[in-house]
Amino acid sequence: MTKQEWKRFRGSAPAPDQIMLSIKGDPSVMLTVRWRTCVTDAPGYALYRAQGSGGPWMRAEAETRRFSTDMDESVFYFADLSGLSPETRYEYTVGSDAHRSPVYTFCSAPANPADFSFLCLSDIQTGSAEPPADYSVFGHVLKSILKKHPECVFILTAGDNTNCGQTDIQWTGLFGGFSGIAESIPVMFALGNHDDMGFANYYTGEGKYYSEYAEYFTNHLWGSYPRNGPAGREIANYAFDYGSAHFSVLGTSGYEEMNAWLQEDAARSEAVWKFGVHHFPVCYAGPTIENEDTWPSLKDGMDLCDVVFSGHEHSFARSYPRRGNGLYDLPSEGAVHYNLGSGNRNPPGTRVVPKVWNAKTYEHEEPLSMYTVVHIAGKTCTLTAYVEDGRIVDRCVIDKETDTITPVDRAPRYDRTRLKFKGADLGMCCEHTLPQKIGDVWYLCPGAVMSFTGGTAIRSPGRIRVEIYGRFAEFTEGSGVMRTSQGDFEMAGPCLRLSRDQLFVPVDDFCRPLRMHALYFEHNNFISIESETEERPIAVQP
Ligand SMILES: [Fe+2]
Ligand SMILES: [Fe+2]
Repeated sequence: MTKQEWKRFRGSAPAPDQIMLSIKGDPSVMLTVRWRTCVTDAPGYALYRAQGSGGPWMRAEAETRRFSTDMDESVFYFADLSGLSPETRYEYTVGSDAHRSPVYTFCSAPANPADFSFLCLSDIQTGSAEPPADYSVFGHVLKSILKKHPECVFILTAGDNTNCGQTDIQWTGLFGGFSGIAESIPVMFALGNHDDMGFANYYTGEGKYYSEYAEYFTNHLWGSYPRNGPAGREIANYAFDYGSAHFSVLGTSGYEEMNAWLQEDAARSEAVWKFGVHHFPVCYAGPTIENEDTWPSLKDGMDLCDVVFSGHEHSFARSYPRRGNGLYDLPSEGAVHYNLGSGNRNPPGTRVVPKVWNAKTYEHEEPLSMYTVVHIAGKTCTLTAYVEDGRIVDRCVIDKETDTITPVDRAPRYDRTRLKFKGADLGMCCEHTLPQKIGDVWYLCPGAVMSFTGGTAIRSPGRIRVEIYGRFAEFTEGSGVMRTSQGDFEMAGPCLRLSRDQLFVPVDDFCRPLRMHALYFEHNNFISIESETEERPIAVQP
């Protein structure tokens, strides 16, 4: 499709479109509305008044942002509808003197609400970067969800709102999906990896890149959200409040800055509930997923949250309260990491398996959307995850008064140190060859790890060679030196023959040449081996 054809098809026009409410201040007295037109000098403004009052319209001048995209050139408008009375229904229009939108309505929040619900969605992305990027099914499903849950006062996403955010084709599709919805209920987007992803050539998929400052996301939403994120990374990162809840929404680049900002932001807030939002899950559920960017780089900030919402996996999981590398039972002991699942009929994602850190996972593989309704009532927070046909997948109640989570799920505390690979138990691969501590050094059985992961173990008298992720390491009984694809290295201790006559080697030395590292969860007594790669090892069959 040429740009000229695009302009007629979905390009910006003199009449406003892409109208979306958002929260930028106290939603009991102000909401912000965004819209788009073609390039014009005509000032844009919103008119609003209490519905049915018949009184004079209040007028809000719009801040504008002109943006040239790959397909179009447009002006985005952002008008703050301030001076609202709490808990009041308003009617409004947006546009210029010559071109005005229809009249829409919204309801302002009550003053300092402590009892309210909101809707969480993630990974609503659909279609390719090629036109037309059709989000109409999403819009249809979302309307039916909101009909079933009229109690929801805003929509919060956990990223991947678009499938390829560095093109206007996807944003017009997304806003198209939200039409008839976002005019009346605020939408709070978080950035996902697909939202700042682009291609040098969209049509061939060549030249994939990530926009460090999320160019399209930031421009499209420039005036929609508080610009209170880390300097230079605003909009991709922002914080807002709704009544007794504080939300810190994080982007996907600049992890050191994000962690510092999240700590300051969470510490500054006196809200009863502190929610973090970050697209990449900490307590992931996919067999091969890695989270090297997110963890531990955001640990200090996330440990200050009650719940951290994530997405990315297109599947559902809820963790035990986690603080650092410890899994606990009580809400006061850590943050619940909550992976929202597929929000636009796009499972099965990473095809989840049980992980040691998750109290609940749901193997969501039907082509249906999932969503979560969060209900805050004073010191309780009820999170209910649904499939779009109404089936409940998970419901938990976090109660700060009693310091409990219901239903009760106890984080494991092992008497013998277990071994996990990416959080999954090695099970029968190492039931009798568990890690052992010799002096100060943790040892593991390399052969057991290869049996589980699909890597290769070649055993010869007094020797084991392992091959995985394109690397190898070779250990010799009684020797403190290992041979690896990167050279020979001294280990923290010699290779030893331990249980079941197997050779064991120091855990950290084993990991280093094989693109792995080990985390020890002391409170729970297990070692989890993490890897920077999501490759699926498989032996060569000659
Ligand atoms: Fe996604
Ligand atoms: Fe993602």
